[in-house]
Amino acid sequence: MQTKVLLHLEHISKRYQSELALKDIQMDLREGEILGFLGPSGAGKTTTIKIITGQLRQTSGEAKILGTDTTNIDESIYEKIGIVSDNSGIYAKMTVWKNLQIFANIWQVPKPRIEEVLRQVGLYEHRKKAAGKLSKGQTQRLVLARAVLHRPRILFLDEPTSGLDPATAAAIHKMLLDLRQEGMAVFLTTHNMEEATKLCDAVALLNNGEIVEFGPPRELCLKYNTKKQYRVLTGDGKEEVLTQAPDDIHRLTGYLQQDKLLSIHSCEPSLETVFLEVTGRDLNN
Ligand SMILES: Nc1ncnc2c1ncn2[C@@H]1O[C@H](COP(=O)(O)OP(=O)(O)O)[C@@H](O)[C@H]1O
Ligand SMILES: [Mg+2]
Repeated sequence: MQTKVLLHLEHISKRYQSELALKDIQMDLREGEILGFLGPSGAGKTTTIKIITGQLRQTSGEAKILGTDTTNIDESIYEKIGIVSDNSGIYAKMTVWKNLQIFANIWQVPKPRIEEVLRQVGLYEHRKKAAGKLSKGQTQRLVLARAVLHRPRILFLDEPTSGLDPATAAAIHKMLLDLRQEGMAVFLTTHNMEEATKLCDAVALLNNGEIVEFGPPRELCLKYNTKKQYRVLTGDGKEEVLTQAPDDIHRLTGYLQQDKLLSIHSCEPSLETVFLEVTGRDLNN
């Protein structure tokens, strides 16, 4: 079955004064899909999200969100999308519950939904606390809860787990997978390749404003597995790396025949290594 395209970018470029921040970006996001936009700081991730959500205008190209041109969207679009970014806009003096309730009123979301999302993000016990007293991880959970309160069709997340503790990151990952199950589409930017590998149906590797590779994480890792190496551990405690060279194949069959093989792992590159190979640069700088 063909799923619906919710987001469509065609030849999007963006110039800030002299700097070309995005170059000819093309992509689609479909219902129930988690798409990752991966790149180091300055690659153009936030710029892309701002253009798609109508907060910034592209220099050229066309972007459509839920069928509407992004240069022509009105406020009603915000009833159908959710955005999680740095500028959280949480009201520090209001309680956690109240922070959600004011948005629930605007969006006419029934009260039980507030409780449901608070439980989902693990903040229900903290509902009476002033939002300003939450930890960084808890604040991010609240931002996420608010962004999905009205069951948006597309959720935009700009580096949602950056600098968070592993427990919060894991809670956010679980929630995103649950939301995908419900058919929500997620557009996620991150420089965390492990996160992308775990969550994303497809990733775009972004470098200097350009998509340099695109595909499912697993397929990309296999595509760049040019060395075809295997790490084996044998009964005498020896660990070695074998290739597909005739000598190595002979050794491997020998280990198998003699029942000496304790473990064998293929050494395909991680997404991080793929990024390094394609761009010549590390993701973290
Ligand atoms: N308002 C702006 N004016 C000028 N340059 C900008 C502006 N916003 C971003 N840039 C530049 O565009 C590039 C991409 O930025 P950004 O989209 O924020 O990257 P990322 O989110 O991937 O870190 C960077 O080189 C950044 O300095
Ligand atoms: Mg950014």
